[in-house]
Amino acid sequence: MTTARRLRLPGIAYGGDYNPEQWPEEVWIEDVRLMREAGVNMVSVNIFSWALLEPREGEFDFSRLDRILALLHENGIAADLATPTAAPPAWFFRKHPEALPVDKDGRGLSYGSRQTFCPSSPAYREAALRVARALGERYADHPAVVMWHIHNEYGCHNAECYCDTSAEAFRRWLRDRYGDLAALNDAWGTTFWSQWYYDWDEVIPPRATGAVPNPTHQLDWRRFCSDEQLSLYTAERDVLREASADIPATTNFMVNFSIEALDYWRWAPELDVVSNDHYLRSTDPESQIDVALSGDLVRSMAGGPWLLMEHSTGAVNWQPVNRAKDPGEMRRNALAHVAHGADGIAFFQWRAAKAGAEQWHSAMLPHAGTDSQIWRDVVRLGADLGALAEVRGSTTAAQVAVVWDWNARWALEQPSQPSGELRFVDLVRDWYRPLWHAGVAVDFVQPDADLSSYRLVLVPSLYLVDDAGAANLTGFAERGGTLAVGFHSGAVDANCHVRLGGYPGAFRDVLGVSTDELFPLLPGETRHLTGAVPEGASATLWSERVRLSGAEAVAAYGDGPLAGGPAVTRHASGAGTAWYLATRPDPATLDALLTRIVEEAGVQPVLAGLPTGLEAVRRTGADAAYLFLIDHGGSGAEVPAEGVELLTGKDVGGWVTVPPGGVAVVREPLDQG
Ligand code: GLA
Repeated sequence: MTTARRLRLPGIAYGGDYNPEQWPEEVWIEDVRLMREAGVNMVSVNIFSWALLEPREGEFDFSRLDRILALLHENGIAADLATPTAAPPAWFFRKHPEALPVDKDGRGLSYGSRQTFCPSSPAYREAALRVARALGERYADHPAVVMWHIHNEYGCHNAECYCDTSAEAFRRWLRDRYGDLAALNDAWGTTFWSQWYYDWDEVIPPRATGAVPNPTHQLDWRRFCSDEQLSLYTAERDVLREASADIPATTNFMVNFSIEALDYWRWAPELDVVSNDHYLRSTDPESQIDVALSGDLVRSMAGGPWLLMEHSTGAVNWQPVNRAKDPGEMRRNALAHVAHGADGIAFFQWRAAKAGAEQWHSAMLPHAGTDSQIWRDVVRLGADLGALAEVRGSTTAAQVAVVWDWNARWALEQPSQPSGELRFVDLVRDWYRPLWHAGVAVDFVQPDADLSSYRLVLVPSLYLVDDAGAANLTGFAERGGTLAVGFHSGAVDANCHVRLGGYPGAFRDVLGVSTDELFPLLPGETRHLTGAVPEGASATLWSERVRLSGAEAVAAYGDGPLAGGPAVTRHASGAGTAWYLATRPDPATLDALLTRIVEEAGVQPVLAGLPTGLEAVRRTGADAAYLFLIDHGGSGAEVPAEGVELLTGKDVGGWVTVPPGGVAVVREPLDQG
């Protein structure tokens, strides 16, 4: 919501994906009645309706959608109207078999599901723009339509296609990037293994091959795939803008479960409203941390409030075992998204399907109907969101920035690294977790972001950094900030070439250290740590032979080939301080280190001495601040606060009670915020 095209809805949006085409029309009447009962004020329609909307090429049947939009409008429910381009109809592929995708192994994929198209297919692009234009022309002035929902989760199933059409598009993208083949050969280091290219037509996608492919080739492929999908989004958006200059456009990101596919930093500025989908993983024992992390990431990309376009009331259908939510968990999830900046809460989906691939996915209205716990929870959540209407538009000011970069992630997780065990998201989450527990507000930033408003910048994992990003982070510390960098960062430049002269390449000077050899640890291997760390401190995953060149050792290895050598260092760099964590400390040790780093940087938590399991987040608006307190621990809490608790409407006289497993939101006078 960073541009002039804003979502014109009062309060917090509430709803879900609505697929009435899957049901007889008499069911629609019950749907809108129940939507009103639950306080639903916006639903996303038409997401997968292409086959019904355009039964034959160029012939549109709008009659059903006309009736759906009219019914919603009569009932005061706004429509987030989707272009149905994530699911082209069978007739399209019969006419354009060349638009079907080809996987890395050269296997052609069939239609019969969704997103079964090649992102570079001209026939697909033409067909998608035709249906988007037709929708724009027909519904731009429809009173129910408040937003365009373009496509659905770009790249979810077809982030990459390796066909010849994609190869041509890749070459065009590379020509734009490099201009000539000499520059490409240089960037890709093609003197290695005789990979030199003499003709553009020799350049192909990184298809399955016998040995390790070229790292820069793979990295550019990732960049290309993200840009190719983005160009589909902007093409549809531009067609819709021609039809309606002021209706905002969104597309739903999926930052926590397909983060490998798209560089959302490049996408976010192209959206009028940034929206995200979030699903819990059944195997994650601390999924509340994932909710918070993804919320902070999306808020940071949006530069303020955003919309939760999808989450689930209960189980999903696409994990090996699909866990239902615990009592109160759905409410905690939804209100945690609001705490982290969501101005709208929606679900996949309104009514549970009885047929099709997602018949076992939960919904707002379950198979059991309204005599169900989920329905009662949905109605209660609607009331909660109604009580929080005034929170809309407020946001969070953080003193800590965490660097998050898709290029670094893509490069880190390529084959042939010193360790194949490094996972970008796990490394970031390791560092985010103690901050979450301490109630420290966090923004995510790109390496070259304006850092002037932060006291502390954390760089858990930044294997690849370009020169501008490296200079920016270094300058932040030198000008007085506190910088903390994780191992194997700064190692390569924007072309994935190793930065010579010792690790961690780009950050050697600011950190006051130099490493000549890496000693990654095997799965299950542990090193003890000594020094200013808790009793029994240990580390896993990584170690390296660090030589101090200005820094002091805060912790050292207690055993192994590097015994006595520095494992954690601290360097007074210019007017600031730069920390290096050259290994992966155990969670308690990392917690202790980050607690010290946060305190030394002068960063204040939202609340001091937060009880275990209680999440505390503050959103600040023009007239008031809103303190969200969410009890994930199950014991409840009493917290000092002044103001009105919005969910109960009660004045809190110095202390607010958070019920066990419950939530409190206190409107605080601004001078306390
Ligand atoms: C994604 C999609 C939805 C649905 C859900 C199921 O988020 O956008 O259409 O498939 O997953 O969890």
